[in-house]
Amino acid sequence: MAHLVQAVHARRIWDSRGRPTVEVEVGLSNGVVGRGVAPAGASRGSREAVDLRDGGESLGGMDVQKALHNIRAHIAPAIRGMPIADRLSIDQRLMALDPSATRHEIGGNALIATSFAVLDAAARDASLPIWKYLSAGAEVRLPLPEIQIFGGGAHAGRRVDIQDFLVMPVGAQSFDEAMVMTAEVYRTAGQLMQEQGRRAGVADEGGWWPDFDSNEQALEMLARAITRAGYRFDQVAISLDIAASEFRHGGFYQLGLEGRRYTTDEWIEVLSGWIDRYPILSIEDPVAEDDTPGMQAFTQRWGDHIQIVGDDYLVTRAELVNAAAEQGACNAVLLKPNQVGTISETFSAMQAANRFGWGKVVSARSGETEDVMIVHLAIGWNAGQLKVGSFARSERMAKWNEALRIEEALGAHAVYAGRSGLPGCLRNPGQA
Ligand code: PGA
Ligand code: ZN
Repeated sequence: MAHLVQAVHARRIWDSRGRPTVEVEVGLSNGVVGRGVAPAGASRGSREAVDLRDGGESLGGMDVQKALHNIRAHIAPAIRGMPIADRLSIDQRLMALDPSATRHEIGGNALIATSFAVLDAAARDASLPIWKYLSAGAEVRLPLPEIQIFGGGAHAGRRVDIQDFLVMPVGAQSFDEAMVMTAEVYRTAGQLMQEQGRRAGVADEGGWWPDFDSNEQALEMLARAITRAGYRFDQVAISLDIAASEFRHGGFYQLGLEGRRYTTDEWIEVLSGWIDRYPILSIEDPVAEDDTPGMQAFTQRWGDHIQIVGDDYLVTRAELVNAAAEQGACNAVLLKPNQVGTISETFSAMQAANRFGWGKVVSARSGETEDVMIVHLAIGWNAGQLKVGSFARSERMAKWNEALRIEEALGAHAVYAGRSGLPGCLRNPGQA
């Protein structure tokens, strides 16, 4: 007998920055209940789905009563009575409630929390873990993680301009070993900062607070931490999220820390120097979301050597992935479900990336909760890569720990993506 959506319950809960967020529970006619939680970004692309907030004085304008109201008044009546097994039709119904790209009427937070809750309910109804429900018997791999060691940009009061200094344990043999390597590098980086009197706490995503005199100094220290932890650069490589939209003003890339500004060409020279000097294997948003010529020039120069990920540049939208591939911009997509609104649309963006042989990085936001949905998406869709911030704070560790449980459940069938999670034919960072 088909089980139907019977009840949709919305509540306010709190995220890792102590801000309100949206949680939805979808109850089925057989008593099964699924849950979904909306994450929240701080360095957001202008084309992203809107995180609907109340504005005004209270809670800094961040309350989500409007989004909760939209779930109760518009979403619940629209999906009540629909068969849970027909998850795609439910997502279609959600999209139809607000067909605008930015979902500013209904709220991207209202949509994604519901879409997550529906998937959770469908998997529970099938008595399967979400990853297994999604994979439907197809090949899965444990993702190559991208893990932040130093935070920066919008996540650290702009103490440095570059947002994320991350590592990728490409040479691990298992996800479990990838976590061990990460733990060693994270701990060693903390020790190095301590020795230099620069350890000043952690940033929004759990990475060490970036108390550096230049952006490049963070790169130097990260490379040193990898070596001191006992790894080669073909085992643990560096990845950067530049989040360049955040510091492009009036057509220039303006580094606050160095007190300098660069044209697009000059900025690409700066990045190229870093790629020459450090074992960098991936760069996200090297230029701003509206700098198409810059992204084309950067991809032309480095696209055969390193992964180039579009985050603000692509905002998890299939049509932007298609357009970028046509323009020769990027060779990988960041997949943030709340950036577009529903799980189905996130999946479409991933399928578009698959057609071009691109890398696919399922990603959390800087505002998170203990929810682990994105880990299941990364594994169930066999995306190959997962990015959820640093190796500290439980809203981050909950995700890494969930992947470890899934690796154990897969037993002898567990395959760790490692380097195979990246697009093909990249350079060997050990020779950088
Ligand atoms: P956000 O940033 O979640 O704060 O928007 C994360 C990123 O830029 O990847
Ligand atoms: Zn980013």
